[in-house]
Amino acid sequence: MAIIFGILLLILICLIWINLHNPNNDEDLLADLPAKVIPKYGDNEDNNWWKQTSVYQIYPRSYMDSDGDGIGDLNGIISKLDYIESLGFETLWLSPFFKSPQADHGYDISDYQNIQPEYGDLAIVDSLIAEVHKRDMKIVFDLVLNHTSDQHPWFLESKSSQNNSKSDWYVWQDGKGDDPPNNWKNILGQISGWNYVPERDQYYYAAFLPFQPDLNMSNPEVKKAIFDMVKFWLDKDVDGFRLDIFNFIFEDQNFPDNPRTLRYLPNMNEGKWLFEDHKYNFHQPEVIEFAKELRQVLESYPNGRFMVGEVFGSHRHMRELLGLKDLDGLNLVFLFDFLDNFEFSDDYFREKTEAYEAFYPVPLVPTYVFGNHDQARSISRLDNDTRKAEMLASFQFTMRGVPFTYQGEEIGMKNGEIPLTEAQDPLAAFWLKLPKWISENTGIIMNRDNCRTPMQWSSETAAGFSKTEDTWLPVQQDYPTINVEDQLLDQNSLLQTYKELLALRKRYPVLKNGALQFIDHAALPKDVLAYTRKNGDHTITVYLNFSEKDKILNADLDEQEKVLFSKRAHIDGVNIELDPFGLLIVLN
Ligand code: GLC
Ligand code: MG
Repeated sequence: MAIIFGILLLILICLIWINLHNPNNDEDLLADLPAKVIPKYGDNEDNNWWKQTSVYQIYPRSYMDSDGDGIGDLNGIISKLDYIESLGFETLWLSPFFKSPQADHGYDISDYQNIQPEYGDLAIVDSLIAEVHKRDMKIVFDLVLNHTSDQHPWFLESKSSQNNSKSDWYVWQDGKGDDPPNNWKNILGQISGWNYVPERDQYYYAAFLPFQPDLNMSNPEVKKAIFDMVKFWLDKDVDGFRLDIFNFIFEDQNFPDNPRTLRYLPNMNEGKWLFEDHKYNFHQPEVIEFAKELRQVLESYPNGRFMVGEVFGSHRHMRELLGLKDLDGLNLVFLFDFLDNFEFSDDYFREKTEAYEAFYPVPLVPTYVFGNHDQARSISRLDNDTRKAEMLASFQFTMRGVPFTYQGEEIGMKNGEIPLTEAQDPLAAFWLKLPKWISENTGIIMNRDNCRTPMQWSSETAAGFSKTEDTWLPVQQDYPTINVEDQLLDQNSLLQTYKELLALRKRYPVLKNGALQFIDHAALPKDVLAYTRKNGDHTITVYLNFSEKDKILNADLDEQEKVLFSKRAHIDGVNIELDPFGLLIVLN
């Protein structure tokens, strides 16, 4: 009995270890990476606009409704451009507004070169682009290249028979008897990635949801159609693209089974999650070539266009996609360390940032992302504490890297509380099958509606988002106290913090291009993070108190030093006093 119990316990411990242990092979990786990269396209010039920019993400459906149908639209966005400009953001990224059945709210496209009527039309897109440029800002669109909607005419034709002009435009395979072609699950891991179609007596592959069939990018005709579409938008003067689930685009053309693994919790370094090692359908070598081909297209246009990839994996995967030796791939990749396993501590922030600096040294640029349309609201990861949100923003806008802000972050919009049963998000249906005690306690965002509730503009009806109260997702109850209009009038609001920080980035280019150096731990009180940014013209020092206690530090400040921005901080002679979650930015 005792022996059996012992063996079971041992197995359990092994399983836990396999799932929680994240092998840290960063050191090997660093040793392996080329010490010096020679940029092919002049990426070493620090004045490339996309290296210095700040990005504001708009989820069009939830930003501003101009025509009272309860759904945000492009005219609504145009009406808010002055607001975004006044905040100081330099680039806008819009989630998809192209023609789409909206089963995944635009990430299921049925025509890449037309606009879903509830958002507007092509003429409105043209004026949106012109209006953004008139304000000296840039605009980036969302490219969903992995898949289309199952209602795209390409797919409708492709699925109709085995012999039609688009029969190879998607990933089709014969089944194995009554079973799918192989054991690949979709990204969410609950169902097979393969979906049977009687007309062809074959299966199509969908990495994400079944209504999002994967394009066959290995087919030169598909690639050409996609490149033509990219050029269509570049010709319209779009400044760049965000690339949706980019390293899922290619699959091994022999379609072998993926190895099984005991790893359930995601280990993205090794491409393992939900008991599957995604060896053959994630980050295939072809995607690196594809990134480079796309880059060539972008480089053939004037004014520096750019791409930022939503890519997953290790830093090595990222560096490969950026172009290992010549930096001739993607311009930027999203780094999600401040979303996953997030910890609000000086050690965590320092450790992650040091890794970013090591893996993305000059002329590379890291990105700082705290939220998006798929993730829990950043302030909800900070106990809804505005002081912490102010610190987060101060950190983000003084880092060496491109900051991405998701709409509503600037006013501290919280997660919504829309139950799974009322969700519009197609992902919610998957999680509904889980018992409540699990679905309510994992901390994963299973209903992305909760970060997509309408933007809170004012204390008027529907938070000023729409003329109707019947909005596509309910407006959050707290809009009378959390809204743009009030925060614009309040000198102490979170919104003002964003404005002042963005203004500092413009006034002191050192915040965009200066070298980053951390001040030694030993010289600082516990829980305080401090660093300098330095270029030939200026040095700026940032102090952040991550604790609930007062902290005093001797900073040897002299007369010349100037406080650029502070919250809950006092200077007393040569000492700096930081109250709980206090912060201070000084020009040395
Ligand atoms: C990306 C998008 C997400 C979408 C999915 C499928 O992760 O950010 O919103 O549902 O891809 O396109
Ligand atoms: Mg509308």
